Amino acid sequence: MADVITIDGPAGSGKSTVARILAKRLGYIYLDTGAMYRAVALMIKEKGISVEDKEKIKKLCESLRIRFSYESDPPKIFVNEVDVTSKIRTSEIDMLSSIISQIKEVRDAMTRLQREIAQKENTVAEGRDMGTVVFPDARRKFFLTASLPVRVMRRYKERREKGEDVSLKQIEDELRKRDMQDQMRSISPLKPAKDAIIIDTTDMSIEEVVERLISYIENC
Ligand code: DC
Repeated sequence: MADVITIDGPAGSGKSTVARILAKRLGYIYLDTGAMYRAVALMIKEKGISVEDKEKIKKLCESLRIRFSYESDPPKIFVNEVDVTSKIRTSEIDMLSSIISQIKEVRDAMTRLQREIAQKENTVAEGRDMGTVVFPDARRKFFLTASLPVRVMRRYKERREKGEDVSLKQIEDELRKRDMQDQMRSISPLKPAKDAIIIDTTDMSIEEVVERLISYIENC
């Protein structure tokens, strides 16, 4: 196994941006595992599969070829050689990915693929269960948090910049629901690993968070 640094946390904690910059600084690949669950959700939606139909979902996961292309920054994600990078960032896929990530067959398939990717190259792995389940032996584990209002505002700005017509209230309701689903599920719930360093990013800039992480990585 190559070197692995894990970053977990809830939506809007800043973990994606931080993980991407950190990977660049370290010369590691950035493994966006949320994008993988989103890609599966998109395929379930496009193929019209019911979230109750575990057999079909299992078959789908076995047949999907998910890969990242690191030639662009942020990386692009391909499913069966089709670029789905922009299609997976919608409110509908936010919610559907949170729902289908509760399915054991989906988690097993994604965990396998995530380990396969990180075996080949040094990796900054970002998600919900990186430190707890997928890479329990990672060299350094981080768990980022932030207050709900700050997470709502970050996500709101992101969506507005993309031209989506959303309200603060809508984002807050969605985040609350997703937090609940991600934390309460029985398999691989969102929680810090016992040996994770917890960082509250509420009053920190992205650069400050990255510097903090680098200082922990260098001192271990
Ligand atoms: O990080 P994100 O918002 O792109 O993730 C989308 C959903 O995928 C999230 O609500 C829960 C799920 N997910 C997961 O269950 N495990 C991961 N390692 C990453 C994401």
